[in-house]
Amino acid sequence: MRLSMKSERSPVLLLAAAFVLFCSNALAQKPTLPERLAQCGTCHGEDGNSKLENIPSLAGQPAFFTLNALILMREGVRKVEAMAPFVKDLSDADIQALAEHFEKLPAKRSEEKVDPALAERGATIAAQRRCESCHLPSLEGHQQMPRLARQRVDYMIHAMRQYLTDSRSGADTAMTAAIYGLRDEDIVALAHWAASK
Ligand code: HEC
Ligand code: HEC
Repeated sequence: MRLSMKSERSPVLLLAAAFVLFCSNALAQKPTLPERLAQCGTCHGEDGNSKLENIPSLAGQPAFFTLNALILMREGVRKVEAMAPFVKDLSDADIQALAEHFEKLPAKRSEEKVDPALAERGATIAAQRRCESCHLPSLEGHQQMPRLARQRVDYMIHAMRQYLTDSRSGADTAMTAAIYGLRDEDIVALAHWAASK
């Protein structure tokens, strides 16, 4: 049976076809920067300050550090499963814009408790290990060295455990060397020290 082009075309079907076309267009289009930032915000905090365990704050991170991390993740060198869907189609320009955006946001302390006794012990270890020579005395970081000041305590412990056990893929060996041979309790103390700055 031949369908007549004129009489049998239902307006409902046409509308449905238009809707499908609209959706596939919308899907094919890459998210805009504000749409991307909303995605990042669900995990890293709307203002770039994370409220979630083991998820780092991005606010106030040196743009170069963020850029570097995102490129490593996009290329699959630093493997972070939770982030894979959000980095796979980022262009270099997207990455640059995201990195610059987060650098400008003010870093805020998390609601975690910083233990003053641990922080003091951490300060002694930090002096021996010269953490400030790379992360700066203010611990604000620069270039590929991340900000530690006001970073989440749990995330810093998590990250240092990864360096210590060589389980952070694509990690900078400078950092692995900096904490080589430390015990878990030293790392916890260092995280409290860094968060206290
Ligand atoms: C589903 C949650 C989730 C989403 C959405 C997400 N991230 Fe992440 N992100 C994580 C987790 C978890 C880590 C920590 C990975 C680890 O343990 O090494 C991380 C780490 C990072 C890091 C490394 C930071 C550091 O201090 O080491 C950067 C940079 C980053 N994310 C940027 C982004 C950007 C930009 C977006 C949006 C395009 C985004 N993330 C979306 C979960 C997420
Ligand atoms: C020789 C330079 C250097 C020294 C010294 C150094 N770091 Fe790092 N640190 C780095 C670099 C570079 C990175 C980023 C590594 C990467 O991309 O995996 C880093 C990452 C980190 C991270 C992960 C932060 C994040 O957001 O992902 C923590 C925590 C950290 N350093 C703490 C310390 C502490 C504490 C000390 C002193 C015991 C220290 N660092 C000494 C260079 C250094």
